[in-house]
Amino acid sequence: MIELGNSASIIANRETPVGQHRQILLKHIQHPDQHTVAGYESRGGYSAIRKVLAMDPVAVIEEVKKSGLRGRGGAGFPAGQKWSFVPRNTGKPTYIVCNADESEPGTFKDRLLIERDPHAMIEGMMAAAWAVQSHWMCVYIRGEYGYPYTQLKQAVNECYAKGYLGDNIFGSGYQLHLVVHRGAGAYICGEETGLIESLEGKKGQPRLKPPYFPAVMGVYHSPTVLNNVETFAAVPWIINNGADAYATIGTEKSKGTKLVCASGHINKPGVYEIEMGYPFKRFLQEECGGMLNGTRLKAVIPGGSSTPILRAEDIEDATMDYEGWSKLGTFLGSGGVIVLNDSVDMVDAIQNLAHFYAHESCGQCTPCREGGHWVEKIFSRMSQGDSDPGDLELLHTIVNQIQGHTICPLGDALAMPVRSFITKFQDEFKARIMDSFEGKTPPPSTLHADFKSLH
Ligand SMILES: Cc1cc2nc3c(=O)[nH]c(=O)nc-3n(C[C@H](O)[C@H](O)[C@H](O)COP(=O)(O)O)c2cc1C
Ligand code: SF4
Repeated sequence: MIELGNSASIIANRETPVGQHRQILLKHIQHPDQHTVAGYESRGGYSAIRKVLAMDPVAVIEEVKKSGLRGRGGAGFPAGQKWSFVPRNTGKPTYIVCNADESEPGTFKDRLLIERDPHAMIEGMMAAAWAVQSHWMCVYIRGEYGYPYTQLKQAVNECYAKGYLGDNIFGSGYQLHLVVHRGAGAYICGEETGLIESLEGKKGQPRLKPPYFPAVMGVYHSPTVLNNVETFAAVPWIINNGADAYATIGTEKSKGTKLVCASGHINKPGVYEIEMGYPFKRFLQEECGGMLNGTRLKAVIPGGSSTPILRAEDIEDATMDYEGWSKLGTFLGSGGVIVLNDSVDMVDAIQNLAHFYAHESCGQCTPCREGGHWVEKIFSRMSQGDSDPGDLELLHTIVNQIQGHTICPLGDALAMPVRSFITKFQDEFKARIMDSFEGKTPPPSTLHADFKSLH
């Protein structure tokens, strides 16, 4: 069985290939001192925040709005617009939270930024803090990220020592503090409201939206700006070079550059920075070095494991941007591209993913908690040659009952890949079901009848 999204070794060897595109986020990461204040400042770092501290906070929001920057954590919501939703003068503190939980299988871009260029993200957070007049910031970092955590802590400590964080940042009289909080290994704590619950010391169980939109009812039910690492890291460049310059990069609706994590059966796995709208086939050939050992492309998961899978023939004209992928019924997501060759058994691959999502359910909603396990059990039976003739129909019924019927989108994150696998590779699933009967006529579907009787 292929290990979907097994990227640890790629980053761990510190030889991550860097693409040749316009570099905004990865421009300086090859410098060994970029993670220090001195290294960062020697390449223009912390000039954006000095500029921001002299600006009207509303003008900072307008600049980010004008740039067209959209959230890089998965949903693609416009960052400036999100900041503009934060109410003023509520009498409560306003918080800035950076989502560094990065647990989506196939995604390992934030890790690179945190390890090699943490000050870019910190500076972006500072700009957001000034824009909404917040004095309290937090980075929620994935518990398993030991080395990135050490790098980040060192960066934060240096900022405090230099007076870039504290009671009088950059001598401006403005107070701004930053806490680094380590998660404890739950994927659901990457979902923004689950993250906030966890940050408050509770179980990481997502909140209902509405009313708990973080901008208005976030940390301790106070206004909160919550963005992904990559989103914050893009902000200093926008301030330094202007929103108009950023908006000229990319496509009409997908502006700027995007970090893409490429893994699977390719010759050069790694993190690449591409301009939005870049053709996928070219990316596969040029950046990824083509298919591993010249093997045949079978499928692509374009934006992390929760995004619907595409067949080789679907990606002919695909472009890497929000609209480009959504035209094909899938998503840019977190940018975790997983490439599969024809050695991959689709039943085994989706069983692997279903196991992950079932295991990571927080258990609050029945469709996600129960449905996830049913789906996993069905694939597990199927892969062991113990299928029921009605399994595909049953799977469709279950995922239809999960998607759109849960508190948070983790239910959808399970339902969408399952539906796309069994629809797009239907023949493979049917063949596996027929194999269970070794040429004998399958019996009538008792399992499905049993399931229907429950409703
Ligand atoms: C199950 C689940 C897991 C998520 N995990 C992450 C994550 O690890 N990192 C992240 O930035 N966003 C994650 N998100 C998206 C966040 O809820 C949120 O939309 C994002 O952090 C907002 O930042 P952005 O607007 O900059 O993208 C996840 C969402 C869901 C439903
Ligand atoms: S969808 Fe799943 S993970 Fe999300 S709140 Fe419901 S049970 Fe929890």
